[in-house]
Amino acid sequence: MAASEGQWVLMATGRSPTNIAVIKYWGKRDEALILPVNDSISVTLDPGHLSATTTVAVSPSFPSDRMWLNGKEISLSGGRFQSCLREIRKRACEFEDEKKGIKIKKEDWEKLHVHIASYNNFPTAAGLASSAAGFACLVFTLGKLMNVKEDYGELSSIARQGSGSACRSLYGGFVKWCMGKKDDGSDSLAVQLADETHWNDLVIIIAVVSSKQKETSSTSGMRDTVETSPLLQYRAQTVVPSRVLKMEEAIKNQDFESFAKLTCADSNQFHAVCLDTSPPIFYMNDTSHRIISLVEKWNQSEGTPQVAYTFDAGPNAVLIARNRKTAAVLLQKLLYYFPPQDKDLSSYLVGDKSILGDAGLHSIEDVEALPAPPEMKIQDQKFKGDVSYFICSRLGTGPKVVADENQALIDSVTGLPKGV
Ligand code: ADE
Repeated sequence: MAASEGQWVLMATGRSPTNIAVIKYWGKRDEALILPVNDSISVTLDPGHLSATTTVAVSPSFPSDRMWLNGKEISLSGGRFQSCLREIRKRACEFEDEKKGIKIKKEDWEKLHVHIASYNNFPTAAGLASSAAGFACLVFTLGKLMNVKEDYGELSSIARQGSGSACRSLYGGFVKWCMGKKDDGSDSLAVQLADETHWNDLVIIIAVVSSKQKETSSTSGMRDTVETSPLLQYRAQTVVPSRVLKMEEAIKNQDFESFAKLTCADSNQFHAVCLDTSPPIFYMNDTSHRIISLVEKWNQSEGTPQVAYTFDAGPNAVLIARNRKTAAVLLQKLLYYFPPQDKDLSSYLVGDKSILGDAGLHSIEDVEALPAPPEMKIQDQKFKGDVSYFICSRLGTGPKVVADENQALIDSVTGLPKGV
């Protein structure tokens, strides 16, 4: 297996983005393989703002597979991690590093244990699809380490078995998860519709909404919906197939009006399906509803959509503005209703902070001086504290290898996470 005493540690580090669905995935036709009841389409977010970074290491000295998430050891015994590890190990190929005197034959990979350290550059608990970025990153990085030759489509169908929406994080830009028809799930994979440069005017503002409420997990929520909602059948069989075709056209033609109408309608139908579940599932809260109302009234007053909204299985609003100028106006309207609780404006908006300058917001005094949005009827009420913070982002690339060894999360001598 190795030249010297087998005390080497071989590592790879990767970074993967998160993604936000504009045509939603909700409902599985196969629970074990994670096969969906309909196609879905997403935008990949800039990994500089929202991503998982994962280092995977192998060494003959590791007695078992282990994983650390954000510095804390977690169990790898779950079926989802096991599926990803098994499927990548199956496809591992011979690897040789002559300089280090390491040679790993194809059959050796099955016997080598892995150490995995992963870190999300955004709060894991914020409800921002961290498992999508995490499982895409795990599969991508394990694939690099184990010299897997399969293309990204094949890797996406492995990531899907970790977390369904993870398959869409294998590509940048606009991505479709094709539900597939086969029972074994081999045709249920992601394809890139367009890369992140295709429509780079779009600006994404996420309102991380404060919530004390414990949410229903996506896994159990989806299961309840599949078992009880008559509306889900109609959505999956009649609505989504034509909506997916229209969304692909809108993306191809950079047709914002159509893109925004489809995105909002699909988010609303997803939440309608949640309400149609027995017992009903409520993911949005009053703050989410206020943001919808703000966007709807503004779009209405402009005569054509300026901003699209979409909400996943939680109260956070993902707002997609047609360009920077619109995003700056959107931010003014949002900050009018949801001003920061303390004086520090720059920690209230993370990611691309330069949007604050575009909106003319340099200090808390500028926020306090904002005029009430004229299109809103109730203008005087404000909701300080109802948004935890905002993230300003854009479309981004798919997974990348992090070549700088200083950025590895595992120590190349001990084989343990740095700082542990
Ligand atoms: N779940 C949430 N974040 C994750 C990560 N970075 N890797 C694996 N699973 C995760």
